[in-house]
Amino acid sequence: MTSIHLDNAAKRFGRATVLNDINLEIEDGEFCVFLGPSGCGKSTLLRMIAGIETLTQGELKIGDQRMNEALPAERRVAMVFQNYALYPHMSVYENMAFGLKQAKTPKDQIVERVGEAARILQIENLLERKPKELSGGQRQRVAIGRAIVRQPAVFLFDEPLSNLDAALRVHMRTEIANLHRKFPEASMIYVTHDQTEAMALADKIVLLRAGDDVITKGSIAQTGSPLELYHRPKNLFVAGFLGSPSMNFLPVTLVAASEDGARVKLDSDEELFVPVSAGHLPIGAKLTLGIRPEHMTPVGEAVTEQVFSRALNAVENFGEYSFLYLSESTDAPMIAKVSDETEVSLRGAIKFQIRPELCHLFDEAGDALTHLNPAPKSISFDATAL
Ligand SMILES: Nc1ncnc2c1ncn2[C@@H]1O[C@H](COP(=O)(O)OP(=O)(O)O)[C@@H](O)[C@H]1O
Ligand SMILES: [Mg+2]
Repeated sequence: MTSIHLDNAAKRFGRATVLNDINLEIEDGEFCVFLGPSGCGKSTLLRMIAGIETLTQGELKIGDQRMNEALPAERRVAMVFQNYALYPHMSVYENMAFGLKQAKTPKDQIVERVGEAARILQIENLLERKPKELSGGQRQRVAIGRAIVRQPAVFLFDEPLSNLDAALRVHMRTEIANLHRKFPEASMIYVTHDQTEAMALADKIVLLRAGDDVITKGSIAQTGSPLELYHRPKNLFVAGFLGSPSMNFLPVTLVAASEDGARVKLDSDEELFVPVSAGHLPIGAKLTLGIRPEHMTPVGEAVTEQVFSRALNAVENFGEYSFLYLSESTDAPMIAKVSDETEVSLRGAIKFQIRPELCHLFDEAGDALTHLNPAPKSISFDATAL
C-alpha cells in the first residue's frame, strides 16, 4: 500500500502560513504532479511528505499508517533534488551505494541493486567516474539511481529537470515516464512549475496557488487529470495558468439563461451561447468569458452564428501555427492561435467562430459556472490490439 493521504494539512513558518487546508489523496502507483508558480509551497509540501519538514496541523498517512511522527528513513520514500546533491569525492557507484551501506545492507545486495539501477538508467559505463566528470543529464541519472536502489514505495522528485537545457529536459522527461512504467507499484510525486512537464507526465495534477496576501499562502486550486484541468478549470486561476498562450478573458453580461445554457453579450455587442448552468444568476449579471487562443476559428463573412469580430494588430508566424494579436477594448491583449495557412490582412477585422462547448464562463468571484456537457475525453488506445 503506497497511497498517500493528507488531511487538513497546514504548514506555518513562524507567523507565515505557507500551506493551508491541504486535502489530498494520491493513489497506489499514481503519477502525481504538484504544479504551481514559484513560492506557492510545492517543495514544502513534498518535504512534508518526505519527513524533512513537519506538519504544523493535520495528518499525513502513507498506506494506512499515520506518518506525522515517522523519521524520513521509516517512510519508504526516496527524494531526487533539482541540484542532484551528489557527493563530489565519491564515484558514481559509491554515490549510489552510500545510502545502502549506511542502512547496513549486505554487500552482495548492494552490488546487485546498484548494477540493476545502472542498467535501467544506462549508466553502467560511468560507475567509476566522479560527478565532475559527468554531464548534467548523467548527474541527474545518478541522482535518480540513488533513489531507485533504495526500492522506495514513493518516489519524490523536486524539479529534477530544471537545471538541464531544453532538449535534454524533453528527453529526460520521457525517461522519467518510462521509469514510472518500470516501477508500476511505486507512487511518484513530481514537483514542477512547468505546465508542459506536468501535462506530459501526470495521471493527476495538483495545481497550487499562492495566496493574495503575505500571511496566507499556498492552497490547492484544483486537483484532476491534465485534460480535466484543461477543459474544465474550476476557477479563473486554473483557467489562466494552464495553456500557452493563456486563455483570453473578456467581460460579458448575462442576457438570457435557460436549461440549455447561458447567452452572454460582449462589450462589442456580439452575443455568444455557452452551455453552462446559469439559472441561479440574475439577467444583467457581470461575468467573465474565457476562450482559449487555440479554440478561435477564423470564418468567412457569411457565418453569423456564435461569432465575433476583432481588428488585427500584429501577426507572429511560427511555421506550424500563427499567433494573431487582436485589439481589445480592455488592456488585456487578445490572442488567437491559428493554422499558418490562414490568410489574414492587417487592415480588416477578422471574424471568429467559437464552439459553444469550448467557451467558459466565470462568476464575479472567479468561479467557473458548471458545464452541462462532459469534458472531451483523452485519446486512449489498446497497444495490444495493434
Ligand atoms: N524554512 C523556511 N522558513 C521560512 N519560510 C520558508 C521556509 N521554507 C520555505 N519558506 C517559504 O515558503 C514559501 C513556499 O516555499 P516553497 O515550498 O519552496 O515554494 P515552491 O517550491 O512552490 O517554489 C515561500 O514563500 C518560502 O519563502
Ligand atoms: Mg520549490
